[in-house]
Amino acid sequence: MKTSEQLLSLVEQALNGIDYPNVPQGLYEPISYTLQGGGKRIRPVLTLMCYNAFCEDVEKVLPAALGIEIYHNHTLLHDDLMDHAEVRRSRPTVHVKWDANTAILSGDTMLIMACRFMQQTDAVRKGEMMDLFIRTMDEICQGQQYDMNFENRSDVTETEYIEMIRLKTSVLLGCAAKMGALCANASASDAQALYDFAMNVGLAFQLRDDYLDVYGDPAVFGKAIGGDIRCGKKTFLLIRALSKMDAEGQAELLKTLHDTDLDPEVKVSTVRATYDRLSIQQECREAIDAFYNKARVHLEQTSLNAEAKDYLWQFAQTLLNRQK
Ligand code: IPE
Ligand code: IPE
Ligand code: MG
Ligand code: MG
Ligand code: MG
Repeated sequence: MKTSEQLLSLVEQALNGIDYPNVPQGLYEPISYTLQGGGKRIRPVLTLMCYNAFCEDVEKVLPAALGIEIYHNHTLLHDDLMDHAEVRRSRPTVHVKWDANTAILSGDTMLIMACRFMQQTDAVRKGEMMDLFIRTMDEICQGQQYDMNFENRSDVTETEYIEMIRLKTSVLLGCAAKMGALCANASASDAQALYDFAMNVGLAFQLRDDYLDVYGDPAVFGKAIGGDIRCGKKTFLLIRALSKMDAEGQAELLKTLHDTDLDPEVKVSTVRATYDRLSIQQECREAIDAFYNKARVHLEQTSLNAEAKDYLWQFAQTLLNRQK
């Protein structure tokens, strides 16, 4: 099996090798800016690893892996516009460097590119792959809509929140893993167990993202700190904090979160101080560990040998304490 570093370099090479049309420049330049601008590439690496756990010739699944990564980057262009995010991967976001229309149209073009790469994948179970990809794209739009709807609600439950992040984030990790398994012609039960494994890693991944949005080092995280608080997002931290407060405390926290006159810096530091007081960091850590425990159970359900299981588990572990 190839190491995750070797697979990452295969992904980077392939992304750098994409040939963009020269014109219209305004459409393609933001795409190469985005795709060559870093990123952890965890989804395509996961696809390649899940394939490599069964088969050797990983190059065969590169188109599917690229399709997933390009699709992910498409969602980021639109997400940054929706979230008013000005920095990603330590650089200006596309709607800031260019404009909103560019983020929409270059983003749409990346979605089309992603579908084309997926279509070009040479696999016997192409129909199943495309069904999975289409279902996943649908679910992510649903998740993003819930994420926005929740900005205007103050009674979002933890169950609703988990379902929202399952849809907006986790299903793409599940899809990435299952895509590798399907390309390797794995059994239906192995493909599903790998989906469930990666889906639970994905839930933990989004909790960590929520955490880093408040407590991350902006120089490393590459995104502005406090973006979720500024947007009134209903993150794990916020929902858990509310659940630990009395009615008066809840009202005060929500008033701060939704106060449009309050200086954003003051808002972020006030909300962060509330999280600190309630030990929300620790609660977040415990919730992440719980999803990892579930992920492990699903990984154990696969028919993979111990070496292959360890290979995937070690990779998942690298995301546990990520700083970016
Ligand atoms: C960002 O994903 C969007 C989330 C689901 C939190 P990543 O953290 O994987 O972003 P990149 O691709 O590494 O920049
Ligand atoms: C990401 O959620 C979900 C998608 C991009 C589909 P976030 O909005 O939390 O991601 P970041 O923090 O901007 O990367
Ligand atoms: Mg965002
Ligand atoms: Mg968002
Ligand atoms: Mg986030």
